[in-house]
Amino acid sequence: MAAAAPARAADLEAGSRKSEPCKACHGADGNASIPGTPSVAGQPVYFTHWQLIKFRDGRRKDPQMTPFGANLTDADMADLAAFYAAQRPTPRPAATDPSKVAAGRELAQQHHCVSCHRPGLVGHEQIPRLAGQDLAYLVKILRGFKAQTAGDLDGTMTTAVQPLSEADIENLAHYMASLPPAQPR
Ligand code: HEC
Ligand code: HEC
Repeated sequence: MAAAAPARAADLEAGSRKSEPCKACHGADGNASIPGTPSVAGQPVYFTHWQLIKFRDGRRKDPQMTPFGANLTDADMADLAAFYAAQRPTPRPAATDPSKVAAGRELAQQHHCVSCHRPGLVGHEQIPRLAGQDLAYLVKILRGFKAQTAGDLDGTMTTAVQPLSEADIENLAHYMASLPPAQPR
């Protein structure tokens, strides 16, 4: 994690200013409203910083997001990550199906998702908050990990999702989307 260690203190005000081009997709305060686009509000600083490094390096690719990560400096990333970590996450509107939520809760226990993502799936350090994230994004990214196209940091998630079926992915996504999006502390 040494590469993410800030060389200078992150600047929240600069982060707010630098988030101007991000607002169209991720919302004014990091709470997105476009299905398939993740909310970044309240994500751990290291998580956001690492994702931005991966987009810049081309290790994670997305036609919409890649151009916005391409020219960020390390200081930009640190400021943006600190700014978004300080924003309060709000739940994404989602039509979650109670039977899928129940099945997803069981699967999350079976597959020890909380051992890394923490109780309540609120995330910490390089591990993201999943609680209250956008349903369509959760399905998309889990399918991406399974197909090995999502470019995860160290292969952890690629390994974690291999035993999951398409139905498991959907049930887990409904469960995660139904949880209240508390900020990691
Ligand atoms: C044109 C729309 C768009 C703009 C503008 C945009 N993003 Fe994104 N961003 C996305 C999409 C879509 C994804 C999800 C990509 C995927 O599915 O892998 C994403 C993913 C991310 C992620 C990863 C989140 C996660 O939970 O994995 C971060 C962090 C991020 N964006 C930060 C930013 C920052 C910072 C800016 C501004 C400098 C920005 N984005 C501008 C569309 C956009
Ligand atoms: C060994 C630790 C570990 C386990 C177990 C684990 N995860 Fe993860 N998860 C991570 C890490 C680390 C990341 C960030 C990966 C990256 O860099 O892209 C992540 C990312 C994710 C993401 C992407 C979120 C986003 O905003 O981009 C989802 C969704 C996810 N995990 C769901 C799950 C589910 C569901 C389970 C249980 C089946 C699970 N994880 C088990 C460590 C883990």
